[in-house]
Amino acid sequence: MSDAKLQGVLLALSQVARQLSAVPSNQPGPDANCVKLNTNENPFPLPMMVMQSALAALERHYLYPEDDNLSLRDAAANAYGFSKDQVIAGNGSSELLGLIYRAFLAPGDSVAMMSPGFSFNRKLAMLQGARFLEIGWGEAYSLPIGQLLLGPAKDAKFILLANPNNPTGTFVPVADIDSLAAQSDRLIVVDEAYVDFAPDDALRLINRHSNLLVLRTFSKSYAAAGIRVGFGFGHPELIGRLRNLQNVFNMNLIGHAVGISILSHRAAYDENHRYIKDERHRATIALSQLGFSVIPSHTNFLLARVPPGQDGNWWQASLERQKILVAVFPDDGLENYIRVSIGTKTQMDAFLSAARDISESLKMQSLPVKHR
Ligand SMILES: Cc1ncc(COP(=O)(O)O)c(C=O)c1O
Repeated sequence: MSDAKLQGVLLALSQVARQLSAVPSNQPGPDANCVKLNTNENPFPLPMMVMQSALAALERHYLYPEDDNLSLRDAAANAYGFSKDQVIAGNGSSELLGLIYRAFLAPGDSVAMMSPGFSFNRKLAMLQGARFLEIGWGEAYSLPIGQLLLGPAKDAKFILLANPNNPTGTFVPVADIDSLAAQSDRLIVVDEAYVDFAPDDALRLINRHSNLLVLRTFSKSYAAAGIRVGFGFGHPELIGRLRNLQNVFNMNLIGHAVGISILSHRAAYDENHRYIKDERHRATIALSQLGFSVIPSHTNFLLARVPPGQDGNWWQASLERQKILVAVFPDDGLENYIRVSIGTKTQMDAFLSAARDISESLKMQSLPVKHR
């Protein structure tokens, strides 16, 4: 295609798509030798029964997957105590987030999200041409209910929070969500991606509030990020409206089989969740000893403030040189923080040993030179 022709083609992009530059081709993938602690995966094998269900599903590879995710929705409804018309299934919960933005937002509308929060939401709002209102957390990462009811968020089409929250790892009492949903006439979306590492959940409130939508995923606590299984739970009318907007065959048959199998073997993950919480505790102590200030976490990751005088980007680059990948969030006012996913003991040992090396080398650099 000649460049002039290409320019003509690109002019036909919608206004929103024109604002985003093309993703560069040939982006390097993650180095297989790296210890990957930057996207909150759960690096443990699937339980054998779940694995077997995936292999069995592969034998039906030439068939389309079941329409409308019926059996998976049925299984999720049974597992969590709802009817299947209260459940939507998605190709990961991010698909469901996208549907919510598409369903509720027209250009010029606004959405309110607790901030710092899961930054993918910013892009989803932008794609709808919507205004993204970032509402700061209250004291000690509490839910500022008054502000959500009476401040600028009162005109938002919906209010979104993750509980526990990413990237802070903090958790607000479910009673506060109950109170917000009771007092607000807006849709309240609670993204519970990390809830299996937390002490409580808002799913049990679904039948009390028709304006509450709860999202779940099997990417984090069920070690199935690559399979893509997510759920939304809410009032049947609301769920039906969202299902209307879904692609046909949005999930594949391996996702269906793995999702159904996980739902009936959830207890097989209890030990894994305990292990992650133990490693989280061990890493919190070790990082504190190195001068980091770690926010108490209710997730499978830690958000840690780097020692005074240092910055998050520098730590991320230094760790990456030692083949340890962690995440940073300078655009969210977290310039001095790194976020570290909790991996296996071996991965955490590698991370902590690299962090100790870096700290030691920093100390050496700041030692005054002795004059003999
Ligand atoms: C808060 C939150 N919500 C949703 C997601 C997306 O999860 P999924 O893999 O189900 O699309 C993530 C992933 O990092 C997340 O942190």
